[in-house]
Amino acid sequence: MARKKFIAGNWKMYKTVAEALSFAEAFKALYVSGPHDVAILAPYTQLAALKDAFAGTGVLVGAQNLHFEAEGAYTGEVSAPMLKELGMDYVIIGHSERRQYFAETDETVNKKIFAALSADILPIVCVGESLPTREAGEASQFVGAQVAAGFAGVGAEDFERITIAYEPIWAIGTGLAATAEQAEDMCAFIRGKVAELFGDAAAEAVRIQYGGSVKPGNATEILTKPDIDGALVGGASLVPADFKAIIDF
Ligand code: 13P
Repeated sequence: MARKKFIAGNWKMYKTVAEALSFAEAFKALYVSGPHDVAILAPYTQLAALKDAFAGTGVLVGAQNLHFEAEGAYTGEVSAPMLKELGMDYVIIGHSERRQYFAETDETVNKKIFAALSADILPIVCVGESLPTREAGEASQFVGAQVAAGFAGVGAEDFERITIAYEPIWAIGTGLAATAEQAEDMCAFIRGKVAELFGDAAAEAVRIQYGGSVKPGNATEILTKPDIDGALVGGASLVPADFKAIIDF
């Protein structure tokens, strides 16, 4: 079965509830449910309001992080069952900003993947290399190791429910997107790695997004590559018309 393209907006730490709702109103006026999956990954405070605002539109909603335990003495954290209660469809795991600023490791990423899957929330697992790693010619090796460690012990059949987002750190928020060829090459490499570790059916099923300075102007060339199944969009997803234009690539 052909993989459905998946365009997701990562709002990072932007928008109040009021601002999120005004985005939803403007976006609903533009968006008609089409062939692609579309999701907004928002801060925790906005999730209930967004789920409600997007009810019946086909726009899916998710969080940007979760804790790997179901409950416990973890001040400030939110668990998978708590997100499921809000009807969350997706959760981002292991974004490079969380790896960089919040001590996220391949080990916590791995535990969070299990937590999300067992609560029936679809994980979007981020991988990607820094500029020095790319310049040293070690990007594939680095990303391959993130995939191997992050997905250790995951069942081959679970890849139908998993999205991997390839986000080279040097392309995030810089306006300097990877070329479509660089993005395709790494997404194809990641698919090959999934095949090697989990088998061909898992590799065929898993969706692999590219993220890093995706804009209306470069969405077409990136999103029409065979191994790129979608985009994880930061800045451009904050603006209804820009996000809509990317979805319509
Ligand atoms: P930008 O699209 O702003 O570069 O952000 C990409 C990203 O980090 C999405 O998760």
